[in-house]
Order: sequence, then C-alpha cells, then structure tokens
Amino acid sequence: MVPFGKRDNKQEVIIMCEKKTFYITTPIYYPSGNPHIGHTYTTVACDSIARYKRMQGYDVMFLTGTDEHGQKIEEKAREKGVTPQLYVDEIVEIFKKLWSFMNIRYDRYIRTTDDYHVESVQKIFKELYDRGYIYKGAYKGKYCTPCESFWTESQLVDGKCPDCGREVIDAEEEAYFFKMAPFAERIEKLLTETDYLRPRTRATELVNNFLQPSVDENGNKTYGLEDLCVSRTSFSWGVPVTFDTKHVVYVWIDALSNYITALGYDNGAYQDYDKFWPADVHMVAKDIMRFHAIIWPAMLMALEEPLPKHLAVHGWITFNGQKMSKSLGNVVDPFILGERYGVDAIRYHIMREMALGADSSFSNEIMINRINTDLANGLGNLVSRTVAMIDKYFGGTLPTEREEGEFDADLIAVATGLKEKVDGYVENTQLNLALEEIFKLVSRANKYIDETTPWILGKDESKKARLASVLYNLLESIRIASTLLSAFMPTTMPKVFEQIGATDCATYENSDRFGILPLDVTVKRGEAIFPRIDIDKEIEALNAIYQNNEPKEEAEEPAFELPEHKPEIAFDDFEKVELRVAKVLACEKVKKSKKLLKFTLDDGEGERTILSGIAEYYEPDELVGKNIAYVANLAPRKMMGIESCGMILSAESGNGLKVVTIDDSILPGGSLV
Ligand code: MSP
Repeated sequence: MVPFGKRDNKQEVIIMCEKKTFYITTPIYYPSGNPHIGHTYTTVACDSIARYKRMQGYDVMFLTGTDEHGQKIEEKAREKGVTPQLYVDEIVEIFKKLWSFMNIRYDRYIRTTDDYHVESVQKIFKELYDRGYIYKGAYKGKYCTPCESFWTESQLVDGKCPDCGREVIDAEEEAYFFKMAPFAERIEKLLTETDYLRPRTRATELVNNFLQPSVDENGNKTYGLEDLCVSRTSFSWGVPVTFDTKHVVYVWIDALSNYITALGYDNGAYQDYDKFWPADVHMVAKDIMRFHAIIWPAMLMALEEPLPKHLAVHGWITFNGQKMSKSLGNVVDPFILGERYGVDAIRYHIMREMALGADSSFSNEIMINRINTDLANGLGNLVSRTVAMIDKYFGGTLPTEREEGEFDADLIAVATGLKEKVDGYVENTQLNLALEEIFKLVSRANKYIDETTPWILGKDESKKARLASVLYNLLESIRIASTLLSAFMPTTMPKVFEQIGATDCATYENSDRFGILPLDVTVKRGEAIFPRIDIDKEIEALNAIYQNNEPKEEAEEPAFELPEHKPEIAFDDFEKVELRVAKVLACEKVKKSKKLLKFTLDDGEGERTILSGIAEYYEPDELVGKNIAYVANLAPRKMMGIESCGMILSAESGNGLKVVTIDDSILPGGSLV
C-alpha cells in the first residue's frame, strides 16, 4: 500500500492527462517579529508568478506560512510572559493581515505548529532514522551557562555570548545528526549541471564553501560536507522525536518538510502530493540558500522523493545600502507605504528594483521617483490621455472607420511580441526584466502619441478615420500591457480595463493579438490610476513618521534597568575629571540630527558650547536659565560640524534621560568636588 500522500506510479500516468500544474513556495517565515518589506518582497514575487501562471491556465498551488518552533521563539515568549503558542498566534495574525493587505492570493498557509505537519515531521524523522541516515551523536559547541544556550563560533560576539555578553564554555550535548556525505556528489551535480539553482552563478560559492570537494593523487574525489545536527535537548519548543522524547527536532528538518507536508505527505490532511510535487519554484533570499540548495535536496534524496525543479535565490533589500534592523530604526513598513501610495505601487516598485541574485537598496526617493516616472507619468498618463482624447474627439465611443498610417506597424509589433518575452522572464523568475519589458511597450505607446500628434489630427475633420486608428491602437497597446501587468498589480489593472472598455476581453490568450477590442469601443473616464506624488512633501512626511516610530519601539523594551557597575577606579583617576556648574543661556536643536541639542552655556569665564544627545527628552527652551553640571575638561569633539566642549551630566531614569540641575545659589564656574 502506498502511504498517505506518497507517489504512486499508476496515479502519475493519470495526472499527465490533466491540466498542467504549478507549485510555488515562499520560505516559511519566523514569527519572531513583525514582517517587513523584505518578507513582503518574496511573497509579492511568488504571488505575481502564481497569478501569472493561473492566467496561463495552470492549476496553481501557492504556499506560504510560518516557521514557529525553536529556541528563539521560546525565549521571546518567555520575555513577554506568554506561552510560545500564544506568542506565535499573535504574530501570525499580523503576517496574515499583511498578506491580505498586499493582495496576496495564496492557496495554502502552513504553520509548523499545525497538527498534521507535526505528525508528518515525526514520521519523516523516524523514516530517515530507520533508513540509517539519522544517527545519535554529540553536539559540540560554545555554551553559555546562564542563558542555557549553545552557540556556534561565528555567532559569538568578541568570543562571548551574543545574548548576555558573558563567557561561554566548550560543551557537548547528546543530539541526532543527519548524514550528508552519501549525497554530496549528487548535490554537486544538481548545482553545477542542472538549472536547479537560479542564478547558476551561485553554484561555485556553494560547492566550495560547503561541499568542499577535493581529489587525491589517485584521482579519488572526497567531500568535506559536514553532517547536520537535527535534534536538541536544551529547549522544548519543537516537534518531539517520537522514539527519544527528550529530543525535539531541530529547526531545518521541521521547516524544510513544510513544502511536502502542506501537500499531505505522510499525513491525511491533504491529498495533493501526487498532483503538485515536485515543486516548480522555491523562492528564497540568499540567507537561506544553503539550506535549500544542499540540505533540502539531501533530505529528499534520503527519502527517495523527487527533487524540486528550481530554487530561485534573490538578494537582500537593504535600506540605503544598510541591512534593515529594528535597532537601527530603518525597517521599512509595508503597511505605511501601501496606505500612502497604494499597494500596487509598492508591489511594482519592489519587484522592479530587485534583480535575481543581487541586493537591492531601498530608498524612499528612488521609490517615489519610480512611481512617478513609470506609473503616474508612464502608464497612468497614457491611459488618461488616451481615454480623454476619445472623450473629447468622439464623445467616448470610437467610430468604425479606420485609416492606417506611419508608425502603426512598429507599435503593433512591440505590443504583439510582448507576451512571449514576458512569459520567458516569468518562467525564469526574472520579474524585474518582465516589468521592464512591459514598460517598453508603455514608452513606445507614449512615443507613438508624440509621433502621430492626435491633437493636430483632431482639428481636421478629414483626418477623423486616422485619428480613430491612432486612438484604437493606443487602447489595444494599453490592453495588452495592462493584461500582462495584472499579475503584478492585481488591484489597479481591472480599473484600467474598465476605463478602456476591455473588461470582457483583457485575457491572457488575447494578449498577443491586436484588434481584439470592438472597433466602436466605448471608454469610461475614471480617476487617475496612479496619482503623481509630491516628492518633497512625501519625503518629509516619511522622515517624520520614521522619527516618531523610533522612540515607540524603544519604549516597548523593558522600562528601566539598573545600569551595570563599572570597575573600580583609583582616587587619582577620579581627580582627573573636572566637574563644574554652568548656566544655560540658550539651547536649540541641531539641524538634521534627531538626538542632539546645542547648549550655549555661561561657564563663569565666558560662553561655552556643548552638544548633548537629549533632544528626545527635552524641548530646547525647557532648560534655559537653569544651572547644570558638566564635565569641563573632556577633549573637544566635533559632531554634525559643531565643536562640543564638555559633557552635560544626565541621569538615566525610567523614561529617558534627565539633566542634573544644580541649585541657583551656586554661581556658574563653581566646581563640583
Ligand atoms: N524560517 C526560515 C525559513 C525556513 S524555509 C523552510 C527563515 N525565516 S525568516 O523569517 O528569517 O525569513 C527569511 C526570508 O525572508 C528570506 O529568505 C527572504 O525570503 C525574506 N526576507 C527577510 N528579510 C529580507 C530582506 N531584507 N530582503 C529580502 N528578503 C528578505 O529564514
């Protein structure tokens, strides 16, 4: 008997006669924090491909989900004082809310805490064990006793625990390992001789870093691929190993299996494995390429299951070239952007910017410029000008007489040749190139308006047939471009179809044919599909939003902790510090700095300038007239182009910093001893 969901050769024959299938997946994301523009990119890209394939007539399965087990989640939940399950439930809701906001149409959402997935992972683990690919050994690593955590050498910060900064010790714990060696050669071939990995250029890096092949003097090839630790006993938030329950399955076997368990592999929840496996595309960013390029194929080889067809690896979205992180306050929030500029504009921008395999630096300026240039001025203008001219010259309905003219053939060739090119790019997961190609038609059509000058034709009664042809050709070009774009911008394109009278005929099949709209098509003027954005105003508004968001994030941290004590110092050292009193004469914000205030002080001998990073806690005039304490002999330091001579003393309090003020009876210049 064939176990639940597994491949049965007889069934395979039947499937071959059915509708073509297409299976695409995103990574399952860690619900350890809110999703940001990076997670949004992968999901939007997969959604667009899934929509395109549905448009092409495929029976599509688009899977996304969340990877909810592991030590980090367990710790985060503990910090918050809730159970891990409650903790992940809350964040998963935010992921789902974002996907609905971004108009993501997934077919299935898997959570690794779903019962059916847990059941399958346990069976997969056992099967790998029974087949001899999983064995018991000892996990050796750096252990932080107070945190009860193992770390790898590379995770340590200055050789210490990255969480608490304390010393770590060499330690080992019992663990299960997955044998990688039997698969090394096949994996090398998969990466270097097939088109599994996209882009292929990453294969060498993977082979050299992880497979580490070497040939001895007799020509025998060996690999340095290490076995993978696949269980832990030091935390409990995971899938228990059925035959050794003090162990939980360590993340990757649990996480990677999702791509098959979601189809019903080794469980009775779904019966889609035969239909959709092997996956057509797994899309991931480079951070988890190794797991998908090496470990996942090895697991499937061990299970004797077919390998996925393609692994598409994209780069990172960085912010102005820097990695996005909560502590840097540069995490781009898709909710904020989508609400201000429309979800489709954001979808378009991120897909247009990211080339497969390369990083993409996010910047608000580039985003707004791109929306203005391509969407508002390019496509939006083309639609509104065309529809407005049909309204103006023909009362909204084109007459049926036509007259061909110069430039028509070229426009028609670009329009009818587009679908094939876009198909190719989507097939190869090169979405930026697909969009670039579609916008070549948009530019060509805008140029056609300049070439054919319909506003001049409109003045001449005898040119009406020519004018109707020009406007019709424009409508047809818009229909083709917007049909192909509808997979990428699914909310806005139906509005375009409505304006150009193409609601019934804007189909994929029609997108390489010209002359589909009826000759006497009626258009319907509507609102601008992509309104132009005032760049200066918006940049200012976005900067203000991000500034306001920063302290809020910090406020979520534990309110106040006593600072750690510093090592003892000799009295002589203390004596070196000159503490004095000064009166605040004036105070202002330092331009372009969120943190700094510039103080002009009367120090008893004259005026002195000191910059202090307390702008978040004080209005500039709040301290004017007050006596403060400061370090007078600190070496001067230039910040934001201003020299700061000394340091104003502040005390840490539960809600920020409070300047130490001194009684009025002490004159400026007085020493603190
Ligand atoms: N849970 C694992 C994946 C298991 S898949 C079997 C994981 N989760 S994650 O939440 O860290 O998600 C990583 C993925 O999120 C990346 O591979 C990428 O798809 C997406 N991105 C997260 N931040 C990103 C950027 N800054 N830029 C681009 N994509 C990013 O790893």
